[in-house]
Amino acid sequence: MGYRYSDDGIIVVRLSIEIYAESLLFLQLNLIMSSLQLTNIGQLVSYNSKISGMETLEKIQIAIDDGIITEIGNKVNDADRHIDCKGKLITPGFVDSHTHPVFLNGREDEFAMRLKGTTYKEIATKGGGIINSVNDVRNASQRELFDRVFSRMNRFLSVGTTTIECKSGYGLNTESEIKSLKVIDEVNNSHKIDMVATFMGAHAIPVEFIDDPDEYVKLICDEMLPAVARQGIAKFNDVFCENGYFNIEQARMILSEGANKGLVPRLHAEEFENSGSAELAAELGAVSADHLMNVNDVGIEAISAAGVIATLLPGTTFFLGSSNYAPYKRLENAGVNIALATDYNPGSCYIHSMPFIIALACIFMKMDVMSALKAATFMSAKSLQLEDKIGSIEVGKQADMVIWDLERIVQIPYNVSNHPIRNVIKSGELIF
Ligand code: NIG
Ligand code: FE
Repeated sequence: MGYRYSDDGIIVVRLSIEIYAESLLFLQLNLIMSSLQLTNIGQLVSYNSKISGMETLEKIQIAIDDGIITEIGNKVNDADRHIDCKGKLITPGFVDSHTHPVFLNGREDEFAMRLKGTTYKEIATKGGGIINSVNDVRNASQRELFDRVFSRMNRFLSVGTTTIECKSGYGLNTESEIKSLKVIDEVNNSHKIDMVATFMGAHAIPVEFIDDPDEYVKLICDEMLPAVARQGIAKFNDVFCENGYFNIEQARMILSEGANKGLVPRLHAEEFENSGSAELAAELGAVSADHLMNVNDVGIEAISAAGVIATLLPGTTFFLGSSNYAPYKRLENAGVNIALATDYNPGSCYIHSMPFIIALACIFMKMDVMSALKAATFMSAKSLQLEDKIGSIEVGKQADMVIWDLERIVQIPYNVSNHPIRNVIKSGELIF
């Protein structure tokens, strides 16, 4: 890794070569500048809060100062540096509002078992699944986990994700849950991507509590949540509310106790079976109910009335080889706000690309491209309570955006298996 500083001290060029754990060479060129002008933008597609909807602007320029968008117009103020967008498309950076990136190794052997017909739930019952990753994380050092998570964040940023929610949940004891959240905090402090931490001690029942799950719930409430709150290293609290994991009463207890400690509730709801967890999300005023593949009309009505965002994760349905996608149209018709995210994790969804998630949402859930882009940017930012700062290209917001090698947004899902990105701009810095 090397640094070069310009003579006038204004432009700092940092050229760093990171070698991925997966042996990929990643070239990162950062131009840190006091001001930047983007010229010759063919199309700018973004949510606009003034009209409360998506907007397409053509032949436009953007001015950025100290990482913040200061002007959008046909001719903006000059700046220290310019990027000629060559008539191409520009969108906000993606906000991935649901990921589980703090694990050590992939679980490709389970993937192979599923190809032979064993289901995700059967694998979990045999001691695989989440518990498999827990053994690794408990034995890993903070440094080992840091390296894995850092290189994963390189990959997320390279496909246009500029803010990412990251859950703990492969530690399942106080020490390893805190270790996982510390890793998120440390990577966040040293990586360009913005990471938002969620405590998910309630991801599965660890083997030592298998005969007394209520004792584990007590440990979460009496020991883990106070420790997490004391350290101030998580914003959200999430529970896998599902048959075989945490039931409604247990989820209510954990999320309420977290809320008392200042952790905002969000919920894995109605993923494999309908359990009434969408209604629980509504009852608790959770900011988001995620998955919802098996939500029924009562659940949809409840989250609609309570203003809970539905975070849909079509990558999980796809990766598990299922056809049970979340009922986007029914949710949309009921007036529910929809966000999209990857659910990146080593078991049920080893997918890190938001452009690919948009393609899945369009093809399998019949989302129109504009709604999918809104869900993957503004709505996912809203589900992280960050919509005043990120999620759209508007004056006063952080300059997080993607300059595409494309002209129109329909080309994003159309290019299913490749993502023609020219540049990612993060807080006004050119990342590559
Ligand atoms: O969101 N649902 C719970 N957690 C993940 C799966 C995690 C894993 O298998 O490791 C999910 O699908
Ligand atoms: Fe998940």
